[in-house]
Amino acid sequence: MINEKELGELILTRNNKKIYRNDGTITKVYDHKAYSFSDVLREAMNQSYARECGFNAPEVYDVFPIGKDYALASEEIKGKTLAQLIEENPSDKRKYIAKLVQIQLDVLSHLSSNLKLPKLKDKLNAYISDSGLDASTRYDLHVRLEKMPNHYKVCHGDLVPHNIILVKDKYYILDWAHCTRGNSSADAAMTYILLVLDGDEKGAEMYLKEFCRRSDIAIQYVQQWISVVSATKLVTTKDKEKRALLLRNINVVDYI
Ligand SMILES: Nc1ncnc2c1ncn2[C@@H]1O[C@H](COP(=O)(O)OP(=O)(O)OP(=O)(O)O)[C@@H](O)[C@H]1O
Ligand SMILES: [Mg+2]
Repeated sequence: MINEKELGELILTRNNKKIYRNDGTITKVYDHKAYSFSDVLREAMNQSYARECGFNAPEVYDVFPIGKDYALASEEIKGKTLAQLIEENPSDKRKYIAKLVQIQLDVLSHLSSNLKLPKLKDKLNAYISDSGLDASTRYDLHVRLEKMPNHYKVCHGDLVPHNIILVKDKYYILDWAHCTRGNSSADAAMTYILLVLDGDEKGAEMYLKEFCRRSDIAIQYVQQWISVVSATKLVTTKDKEKRALLLRNINVVDYI
């Protein structure tokens, strides 16, 4: 069995995840207390499927158990993330947010009815059920979700500046664990709420305006999705202040 010391340099430690780099390979190690082997296999499957769809995603090299944990080894993409570029060049933030939107619209232009990808609505319905909100709020959110149009666009589900690497004129997308097929405005609502949760409200507003402008979608419509998506993020958000933020966003639109 492979030992963690053989995975190279530890470059990042996240909640329940460690990331190693070694000679062109990036290995993500998932804590078995938070992830099952099938979660890691799903991420690897989605990443491979993304490549089959023609997206630039790192090649999957291997998935294997490591001690009690699980590892996913992929091709290392040598470049800077959009998040790094924004941090290094804050005056160019608008330009990089526009790039994020352009990349997201590229992904969303791809239709998929492939059963490998779960339906976004199914996932959102399940999360609303587990949100811990009261029965009447959950009921309203389920009804609201049901009324939303059914689309089959490839939704990355976690498209934020940390998950995009630029290499000259080319871009690569990381982190396909949450990929589904569904509605583009729901995917935009997810990006918006992730930026807000990351403490970047200004960037989130800039992003939302740019997404609506480029896609010619009414901001009020995306806001309806923001309330649904915010409810689903309650399941995994423990921080008190962030939960308060999500609760505020659920009420963005009167959904009764
Ligand atoms: N294949 C890769 N090539 C180059 N860098 C990578 C690669 N995979 C991950 N990284 C680096 O590690 C960081 C975290 O990786 P990744 O997004 O896959 O993990 P994560 O734990 O899901 O993070 P988060 O959930 O916060 O998005 C990336 O932002 C990037 O800087
Ligand atoms: Mg990531």
